[in-house]
Amino acid sequence: MNSLISNKFFVDNLLKWNRLSNKRLMPWKGEKDPYKIWLSEIILQQTRVNQGLEYYLRFVNKFPDVHALANASENQVFKLWEGLGYYTRCKNLIASAKYISQNLNGKFPETYVDLLALKGVGPYTAAAIGSFAFNLPVAVVDGNVYRVLSRYFGMKNPVDSTEGKEIFAELANKLIDKKNPSIYNQALMDFGATICKPQLPVCVSCLLKKNCTAFTTNTVDQFPVKVKSIQIKNRWFYYLLIEFDGKCYVRKRMPKDIWENLYEFVLMEEDNSLTEKKIVANIKAKYFNNKETFVIKDISKVNKQKLTHQTIQGQFITIQLKKKSAIKGFQLASPAALKKLPFPKFIANYLKDKSVSLNLGNA
Ligand code: ADE
Repeated sequence: MNSLISNKFFVDNLLKWNRLSNKRLMPWKGEKDPYKIWLSEIILQQTRVNQGLEYYLRFVNKFPDVHALANASENQVFKLWEGLGYYTRCKNLIASAKYISQNLNGKFPETYVDLLALKGVGPYTAAAIGSFAFNLPVAVVDGNVYRVLSRYFGMKNPVDSTEGKEIFAELANKLIDKKNPSIYNQALMDFGATICKPQLPVCVSCLLKKNCTAFTTNTVDQFPVKVKSIQIKNRWFYYLLIEFDGKCYVRKRMPKDIWENLYEFVLMEEDNSLTEKKIVANIKAKYFNNKETFVIKDISKVNKQKLTHQTIQGQFITIQLKKKSAIKGFQLASPAALKKLPFPKFIANYLKDKSVSLNLGNA
């Protein structure tokens, strides 16, 4: 089959599947308000649809338009984002909301190039907003699209190489239905998410399988091709909840590391996992000059969180000070104040479980 016929078969059958069998319902589907589309796409950038859904609804409810978001306090927005991870997205969301609200009078840019100029908006998101809100004929190219195209066309170009990305983008833009880019783009993403899935794709009910290179050569599990496997770094975080007078020491995290701008307790980072005995000895030596001016009230179980490039493991140690002493860079916060602060998921999960001491849970 020549490539033009194969392309036509691909598009026709993708759209046919979309018309007849695509049952995927999501609140932003068919949405035309660029603000809401932008919000959904930023939330979904590194987040699964199931998880992103409730965040999207909460954001739209609390901030129904770009001015409402732009006028909110940063802590309030970060608090609503809490648990979603990749907090640079939230920082960029705030910056772009302010820019659109203040510099563009609340009117979203309407061209691909102007959308691309927004902070946090890359080629994928600009194509999504441009096609869904303004019907611009630009193809979205996300993980779903790489997978579907690489399998159907048998493309061995690595999707994590610059050259591979260009080749996929070129093909995707050749295929797009120029009359109905929004429907085509959404159909392709939905197809990747529900039929041509990463694991256990539903090839039996796939309308494209007859011409799918991967299916007909029994190599579905070999696509998409990647050059590198990610190196995961292990880090051990021992968080000290240092209490005095019913309050606890906290600070905002610094730039240039994970969880920038979120809050944390006193962090003792170690190169290895520690026994409880060693944890106590290190705390005493590093923070209390080897003096007994504190009491350990609780040591949590080991908690773990996997990020894309790092795995964080650690424990939370609740410490009561015998007398007040300042800790440089930290401030004492009451339980009520702590509940309003945005914490990384690693800490927020612990606080939710925590029922003893300070009664910080149930935020
Ligand atoms: N992931 C990112 N954007 C999406 C969308 N519009 N529909 C489904 N999945 C998505």
